Amino acid sequence: MKLLQVKDSETMARRAADLIGAQLLLKPRCVLGLATGSTPIETYAELVRRFREGALDFSKVTTVNLDEYCGLTGENPQSYRYFMQQHLFGQVNIPPENTHLPNGAAADPAAECARYDQLIEELGGVDLQLLGIGHNGHIGFNEPDTAFTAPTHQVQLKEGTIQANARFFSSIEEVPKAALTMGMSAILRARKVLLLAGSDKAGILRAALYGPVTPQVPASLLQLHPDVTVITTGAVQ
Ligand code: GLP
Repeated sequence: MKLLQVKDSETMARRAADLIGAQLLLKPRCVLGLATGSTPIETYAELVRRFREGALDFSKVTTVNLDEYCGLTGENPQSYRYFMQQHLFGQVNIPPENTHLPNGAAADPAAECARYDQLIEELGGVDLQLLGIGHNGHIGFNEPDTAFTAPTHQVQLKEGTIQANARFFSSIEEVPKAALTMGMSAILRARKVLLLAGSDKAGILRAALYGPVTPQVPASLLQLHPDVTVITTGAVQ
């Protein structure tokens, strides 16, 4: 694992964009695993800036996002599809048909999860997976107690996660109680992992990186991965 402790979120975004940019240059036809949440927003803005400068080309890239809320369509401003459209897809030259998220509005969530795993397999897996981390150590929406081998599945969100994400909604009642998330198994199979964490996550990040590997802290499973880069503004060591 490579740990980069940086001084501010702007530096974090630049370092993350360097790594994602390098992936695009080395393999233009790559598969990027993408994340939502507030932490990667500046990284997406930096990627957009570099695209506008002509330094990056997304025309051959395919993306698979980690997760989506159940019951929300892509037109809903609270959906992760909408978030991605706003912050990245709508701002760069990625073909819309190359951008994938689980469909949270699918009538048959189990079939949708199976479709998503099949899609990731057909794409040849994820080259670089971008991750944030929840305050309880969740990755995507893999909440504590998720099996190491979980495929894409439907989860009931923990109360703390609902509260943490309520800031994006006008009231806590509007936060969906369930989501579809890529499982830890696909995340661990990504060839490279890039985890971003602000200083508010220092405690859980320390537990994830240096504590026991346990499903109680899903991010701790990343200790089993051979190529993880963590960029943080927090004092972890
Ligand atoms: C949500 C997302 C996660 C994200 C987490 C932390 O739960 N499903 O993928 O890592 O929020 O978000 P933030 O970066 O806003 O703290």
